[in-house]
Amino acid sequence: MRRYVPVFLGFILFASLTAQAQQSPRPIPSLEHVGSHFRLLVDGKPFLILGGQAHNSSATNPQDLEPVWRSLTALHANTAEVPVYWELIEPQPGQFDFHLVDEVLAGARRNHLRLVLLWFASWKNGEMHYTPEWVKRDKTKFRRVVGARGEELEILSPLCEAARDADARAFATLLEHLRRVDEADRTVIMIQVENETGLLGTDRDYAPEATRRFTGPVPAELMAYLSAHRDALVPSLKAAWAAAGFRSAGTWPEVFGELAPEVSTAWHIARYVDKVAEAGKQVYPLPMYANVWLINPGKARAGQWPSGGPTEHVLDIWKAAAPHLDLLAPDIYLPTYRETCITYTRLDNPLFVPEVQFIPHNAENAFLTFGGYDGLGFSPFGIDNAVEDGKVTATAAEYEDTYRVLSPLLDLLAAKQGSNKLHAIIQSEDGGQSVRLDKRLVAVVDFTKPYSPEGSRGRGMIVELAPDDYVVVGAGFTVAFRELTGPPRDAQFLSLEEGTFEGERWVPTRRLNGDELHVLLPEKARILRVRLLRESEPSAH
Ligand code: DGJ
Repeated sequence: MRRYVPVFLGFILFASLTAQAQQSPRPIPSLEHVGSHFRLLVDGKPFLILGGQAHNSSATNPQDLEPVWRSLTALHANTAEVPVYWELIEPQPGQFDFHLVDEVLAGARRNHLRLVLLWFASWKNGEMHYTPEWVKRDKTKFRRVVGARGEELEILSPLCEAARDADARAFATLLEHLRRVDEADRTVIMIQVENETGLLGTDRDYAPEATRRFTGPVPAELMAYLSAHRDALVPSLKAAWAAAGFRSAGTWPEVFGELAPEVSTAWHIARYVDKVAEAGKQVYPLPMYANVWLINPGKARAGQWPSGGPTEHVLDIWKAAAPHLDLLAPDIYLPTYRETCITYTRLDNPLFVPEVQFIPHNAENAFLTFGGYDGLGFSPFGIDNAVEDGKVTATAAEYEDTYRVLSPLLDLLAAKQGSNKLHAIIQSEDGGQSVRLDKRLVAVVDFTKPYSPEGSRGRGMIVELAPDDYVVVGAGFTVAFRELTGPPRDAQFLSLEEGTFEGERWVPTRRLNGDELHVLLPEKARILRVRLLRESEPSAH
């Protein structure tokens, strides 16, 4: 009889989970791979994140969240990125307090925002400041990384299984809570696991056990992954491995040469983070990602940036080691926005930018993210004070302007991603820009003001609805639709309208003709729909 008891209990658990799932008409958010691109599905439909991230300490009490909600609402954002702190939800081992998480959920729902929660736990910016006090105090159980001169660092060792398991247990408990309180609403659409992982101040852990592992063999599992993906590896990893003659086995230094400290650290951290993500997903499988402190081109050695985080050197190591993460997401504080998008947009990784520096002209990169790289989301960091004295600040103005025109377009953009029908317009030092629309038509873009490195720039997007039917959105530029066959001339207009979208349906607000018959996007962003009349049928691209 006894052996039937677990079966019976299992049946009850299954029945109750099934009943709960049936009560929730909204499917769980998920990431879907369609052809060469990805879609984030929220309530079963493609969703693009027009986000904003709160400052690090803003979710430690409900009052400090008010400016966050106010700012995001004023900016027309649809998603808040807000931290959840391990140290505050598990102040004593095994004792959990979710009242702050519940405040975050309630605030987001009141303000009609979705949430990306940021799990500040074993790692925060390459260190461990958000671990609970009981973790910080017990250095024997929760081992620290040791630097090259034998100094103890404020970083948990990625090889410390006790730390990993404690983090994973807390994370799973958080996800269990979220499943219980949010399954019906699906306010939380994605989770960031840890924050900017890596070892700040050292290229690897120099503790004796860590050194023994470093001078031991590279796991066969990693070697098999690298062999299978050899042609597609990131250049620095491939070059390091090539220099060692593409060895199929050996110690970390034998296989990866000078890159070995960063590569081995990446493997250990990614395995650790993967265990945490896996524990959470077993309970409530939301999409999960790890964010990246990028390599600043001025820095020469891993450790000057957190060594082993998912940087461009070791992206493939993370892909091999962390299958439970849906994506790796760059925090872009460098001027090399476009280059970073190229690195992080891969067949195995959709672009999501969880943090950009909140400086005025960075707002233009929202157009680049969605229109140039099929990105799933964009979010400036530290938006708490975007509104002061009831007004959007000068710093936030361009974000407000950009999000105001992007928010009605999101369904259309999500539907068009992956089809090459989106063309980002971003002013650079090079002057104008042209976009080839089909064999016989080019959109010639001119910017209304000269380029300025710090000032606001022409920015926007052309969306191909159908041949000869375009949406042009943005600010600070004009577009001429030039025919490439016959005598040089601009295509005739069938109609030009200003308007907006409801879902994917165009809603005209103003017909433009006579003096206004120009595709002109002034300093304040607008949405235009251009329909052209051409004598001959347009041909395919
Ligand atoms: C990147 C981190 O991910 C954020 O939490 C915050 O510390 C910012 N840097 C500050 O610039």
